[in-house]
Amino acid sequence: VEKDGTRVFELRMQAGETEFRDGVKTPTWGFNGSYLGPTLRAQRGEKVRVRVANGLEEASSVHWHGMHLPARMDGGPHQMIAPGATWTPHWTVDQPAATLWYHPHPHGRTEAHVRRGLAGLFLLDDEKSARLPLPKRYGVDDLPVVVQDVRFDGSQLAGDRGLMQNVGFLGDRTMVNGTLRPYRQVHDELIRLRLLNASTARTYAFGFPDDRGFSLVGTDGGLSARPAVMDRVQLSPGERAEIVVRVEAGERVMLRSFPQDNYGDAWQRRFGGGDDSFDVLELRAAERLRPSPGLPAELVEPEVPREEEAVRGRHFDLKRSGINGRAMDMGRIDETVTRGTTEVWTIRNTNGMPHNFHVHDVQFRVVEVNGAAPPPALRGPKDTVFVPHGTTMKLALRFTGPADPDTPYMYHCHLLYHEDEGMMGQFVVV
Ligand code: C2O
Ligand code: CU
Ligand code: CU
Repeated sequence: VEKDGTRVFELRMQAGETEFRDGVKTPTWGFNGSYLGPTLRAQRGEKVRVRVANGLEEASSVHWHGMHLPARMDGGPHQMIAPGATWTPHWTVDQPAATLWYHPHPHGRTEAHVRRGLAGLFLLDDEKSARLPLPKRYGVDDLPVVVQDVRFDGSQLAGDRGLMQNVGFLGDRTMVNGTLRPYRQVHDELIRLRLLNASTARTYAFGFPDDRGFSLVGTDGGLSARPAVMDRVQLSPGERAEIVVRVEAGERVMLRSFPQDNYGDAWQRRFGGGDDSFDVLELRAAERLRPSPGLPAELVEPEVPREEEAVRGRHFDLKRSGINGRAMDMGRIDETVTRGTTEVWTIRNTNGMPHNFHVHDVQFRVVEVNGAAPPPALRGPKDTVFVPHGTTMKLALRFTGPADPDTPYMYHCHLLYHEDEGMMGQFVVV
C-alpha cells in the first residue's frame, strides 16, 4: 500500500516448468511463478494499481474479468504488452464483494495463453461481506477452487482439439489450483468453495456423489440475495459460483462434475464433453470439526439493473462464424451504448453447439431464459452466462462508464477457441 492509500500489485508473466506429476517437468506459463498466479484481493472503494510485466517472448495482455473499470484499464486486445514491457493500469474498486479473476486476452491467442497457465483470482471485499457470518478464512474454510481440464502429451500440456470437438480443447482429467488429484484437509463444519471454471472450453456441473444439497451464496459478480439450496451448479468457461457445503467429522467428500442433459444433443454430449464426469476435489474432514455459525437467511441486496429501467434493446445471435453474422474486427465498433443507461440484450443460440456470453465492465441481471424466470443459480450478478443450443436469454445491463468513445470493451463467447476464431464484438460507452 502506497502513501496515498493505493494498493499496488506486481504481476510478471513468465515461462517456466511445472512438476504436475512426479519427476516430469512440463513447460508452462504463470504469473510470478511457473503456473497460474497469486490471488489478488482488494476492498470496495480502494484504489488499486497493478504493475504487469511481460517476461514472455511474445506479446500478451491481462484482463480483469468481471471488474468495472475504464476501458483503457480493461486489459483486452487493445492493451497489449510487448515482450519486456510493463503496463500499469489503475482504477478505483467500485463494486460489491465478489470472486473475479484475471487472464490474458490477446486477439486470436487467448486460448493458448490461458491453457499454458496464465490465470488467477481477484477477490473483492466490502463492509457488508465482512459482517456476514459466512466462512471467510482464506485457505481454511474459504477455499479458492480454480478448475481446469488438461491432457498430457508426454511431458507437454496438450492443446489439440479432437476432430469432433467443435467447442475447443477438452482435457481428459481436471486440476484444482494447478494440482492433479487434489485434496484438502478441512477443520470446519461449513466450507465455502469459490469455484472458478478457468477451463478454455469445458462446462462443468458441480455437485457431490451423495447428492447432498449445498448453498449457493454468490455468482460471478457478488453475493446472492439469500442462500439457495441445490445439488448441482453448472459453470461454463469464465463463470464463478460461491457455494457452502456442510461436512461431517471424519468423512471424505468428493466434489465431482456430472453429465449435463441440457448441454446439447446426444452427439454433442458424447463428443463435446457434456456426458463426461470428473472427480474434482476431495475434502477430508478432520475427526473433530470446529462448529460453524449457521448461514444467514438473507445475504445482500444484489446490485443488478432492472429490466423496467431499460431504454433500448439489442440482439446478439451466436454463431461459430461470429456474433450477428460478423467475425471480430479490431477496427470496427459494433455497438455504442450511452453512459448511465440500462439496456436489455437478447442472446440467442440456434447454432447446434454450446456457447456462452461474456460482457466486459458490467454485472448484468439474467431476466429471462426461454421466456421463463431464471433458475436460482442465474439470479445474482453475472458477467458470463451459459447459452446452450436452443436458448434465448434476456439480460439487463447498466453501463455506468466512464465515457470513452475511442476504446472499446469486448463481448464474446468465453469458449476461448470460439473467441479466438472471431465470436467477439466491441462496444464503446459514450
Ligand atoms: Cu474472461 Cu473477455 O474475458
Ligand atoms: Cu472479461
Ligand atoms: Cu462459443
